[in-house]
This record gives sequence, C-alpha cells and structure tokens, in this order.
Amino acid sequence: MYPAVLALFPLLLTVLAHKEAITAEEKEIQRSLRNAAYHCAPAVGDFTAARKRAFAQKALGQAGMPGLPGYDELFAQEMLAGIDGPTPDGDFLSCAPVQDTHIENNTCVLTPEVTEGPYYHIRGHPIRQNIAEYQDGLLLLLDIGVIDVETCQPVPNVLVDIWLANATGHYAGHPEPAPHLVDEQPQVGGARSGLLSKFPRTNDHETFLRGAWATDRNGVAQFTSIFPGYYTGRATHIHTKVFPEWTTHPENNTFTAGRLAHVGQFFFEDDINLAVDKMHPYTENPIRHTRGRTRNWRDSLNIFEDSHRNGYNPVFKTHLLGGVVAQGVVAYITMGVNMSASYENWWQG
Ligand SMILES: *[C@@H]1O[C@H](CO)[C@@H](O)[C@H](O)[C@H]1NC(C)=O
Ligand SMILES: *[C@@H]1O[C@H](CO)[C@@H](O)[C@H](O)[C@H]1NC(C)=O
Ligand SMILES: *[C@@H]1O[C@H](CO)[C@@H](O)[C@H](O)[C@H]1NC(C)=O
Ligand SMILES: *[C@@H]1O[C@H](CO)[C@@H](O)[C@H](O)[C@H]1NC(C)=O
Repeated sequence: MYPAVLALFPLLLTVLAHKEAITAEEKEIQRSLRNAAYHCAPAVGDFTAARKRAFAQKALGQAGMPGLPGYDELFAQEMLAGIDGPTPDGDFLSCAPVQDTHIENNTCVLTPEVTEGPYYHIRGHPIRQNIAEYQDGLLLLLDIGVIDVETCQPVPNVLVDIWLANATGHYAGHPEPAPHLVDEQPQVGGARSGLLSKFPRTNDHETFLRGAWATDRNGVAQFTSIFPGYYTGRATHIHTKVFPEWTTHPENNTFTAGRLAHVGQFFFEDDINLAVDKMHPYTENPIRHTRGRTRNWRDSLNIFEDSHRNGYNPVFKTHLLGGVVAQGVVAYITMGVNMSASYENWWQG
C-alpha cells in the first residue's frame, strides 16, 4: 500500500532503529492519526473509567463497591447515554469537540511509531489470557482497550498480541547472549547507545510471557501476567501488536497474523518500577548492581521519549489490587487504531 515505506523498513529493522515518519505520505498519516486520537480523548477517558469501575467491582466484589453496575451493563447501548449525560449526537463514545484541558492523554496512537525490537516470534505466540506460565513475579492484570480513532468506538474482535521480559529481564526463547558477546558492554554513543546486541533465540519451546487475545465486544483484551523485569538499556516495557485479521490454529493454539494495525510499546510510571525493583525475584536481576534499571527518560533509542511526542502517553494507569503492592497491580491503557488503514508488511521483522 505504501511502497516507499515498505522498501525502507527491513533496513531500519536490522539496525533496530526507531521508526520515523519520513515520506510526506507517512507524516500525513501520523499527523491525522494523532489529531483523530485527540478528538477521541473524552471517549477514551470515559471508556477507561468505565473499565476501572467494572474491574474494581470484579476484584473487590459487591461488598467493596455496592451498587455499581456490572461490566456488561456499563457497556450496554441503553446505558451509555446516561452515564455522563447525552453528547450532542446522543452517543456516549462519540467524537465530541475537546478543550485542551480535558485531554486524556493516556492514549497510544496506533501508528507504527516504535520498533518491535528483536524479540518478537512470528510463529508460536499462544492465544491465551494468562501468559504467566510458571514465571515468578508480581501479579499484573492488564486491561487493554482498543478504540477506532475514526469513530471513537471501541473495537471488538481485534487480536492484541503482547510479549514481555520476565522478572530477571529475559524473553522466552532468548536466555543468554551469543557466546562471543558474553562480556559485551553497552554501546556508547550513536543510535544504539546504552544497548547490548540482541540475545539470540536458542530455544523454540519457551513461550512464557507471550500471548494474544481478541478484544471482547466492549473492545477490551484482558491478560494475566507478571510485571516485566528490566534488561540493559531499556526502560521497563511491554510490547504489543494489534491484528484486525488472523487465522487460528486450534491444533497448537497459535495463530498466523494477517493485517497489522499497530506495533507499540507500553511503559509504567517510574514510581511503580521503583517499588517492584525492591521485590523478589526482581532483586535477582543480574544487572541490578552493575547497570541497573534504565529510567524511562533514559530509554535507549529514545523510544520512551518518542512515544510521548505531541502529548501522547503510552504509560499504563495502575492501581493496586489489594492494600499493598505485593498483592498485585491492575494496569489500564487505551490504544487508538485506524481500522480502515492497512499497514501490512510495514513491520515484518
Ligand atoms: C501451529 O500449527 C500451524 C498449522 O498447522 C503451523 O503452520 C504452525 O507452524 C504451528 N506452530 C507451531 C509453533 O508449532
Ligand atoms: C527468566 O528467564 C530466564 C531464561 O529462561 C531464566 O533463566 C530465569 O530464571 C527467569 N527468571 C526468573 C525469575 O524465573
Ligand atoms: C498530559 O496532558 C496534560 C494536560 O494537557 C499535560 O499537562 C501532561 O504533561 C501530559 N502528560 C504527558 C505525559 O504527556
Ligand atoms: C485511516 O486510514 C484511511 C485509509 O488509509 C485513511 O484514508 C484515513 O485518513 C485514516 N484516518 C485517520 C484518522 O488517520
């Protein structure tokens, strides 16, 4: 669809470069997506708030939150108009004009803005909600909403694919550095400043902390996971891809992806990262006493910074599940996707 970009991408990926809008066409796509997402900001805010209430009710039970409507009730069409009062066209999740002060910028624009990195597995991501397997770590419940920036409506039935590092900073399938790079030191200066070479994939059977799940009829995909650990040069993050089209393989519970709508990364506030740093088994991270965790604002390749351009904020809103952090964390985020766009092949790594 966009031949100039198509040709460029394999090259960018090999150097793990941050994707920038280069062609005039690409800049225009990003600009309109951003404008569209701003336009949807109030809808995103309402969408997230309703999910929070529903999740709190689920976690705390009726006793904790008496009288709250259920999740399904919250999103039933009849209910929507009543929650915050009718909007001009009578639709709860509508594209009402926004003032700057009302902007809910916890919105991740679904244009392939940031690199997918070297740890995606094209084959073998299971379709499942609980991706933790037997990984030890802090319970993390993810509530990921997808909204169409053209209509400001939640998008049901798109596959949200996520992958993250375990508590000590390893991705499933990539346990060790390449033998000749065991003593490698982080790159100094240049585009890859702070980073090590990628850890090669040396086993095919590990799938921990990888998985995909389709958004439900309310446009939400929920996952059970552990909080990610850190590795050299990168701020703590979770990767995501969003596929409006895919083929499932029931025989091994994986899928083959079709059209790709988004490649992105989500982050956490440094406050919560700091708390998790002190918890076992995150304290066992092999680089804890040497390089330590990379703060968000020091993220390599400017990924964190770049994903904040124009006021966007791909940082989860987090809440404690219980009275203390160790009882687990719920993290919410809403992504805006252009459902009629077609980015196929942009990021085939
Ligand atoms: C799962 O099954 C599909 C269809 O048979 C196959 O193409 C794919 O390679 C399998 N994936 C894995 C990880 O075994
Ligand atoms: C993380 O994964 C690596 C590689 O599989 C493993 O050696 C390590 O023990 C895991 N960390 C924890 C805390 O289980
Ligand atoms: C979010 O928006 C508010 C209000 O416009 C702004 O003050 C704040 O800096 C923004 N946050 C981020 C992380 O961009
Ligand atoms: C969405 O994608 C379509 C098709 O590429 C394009 O015409 C439209 O302008 C895009 N909308 C936004 C808000 O970017």
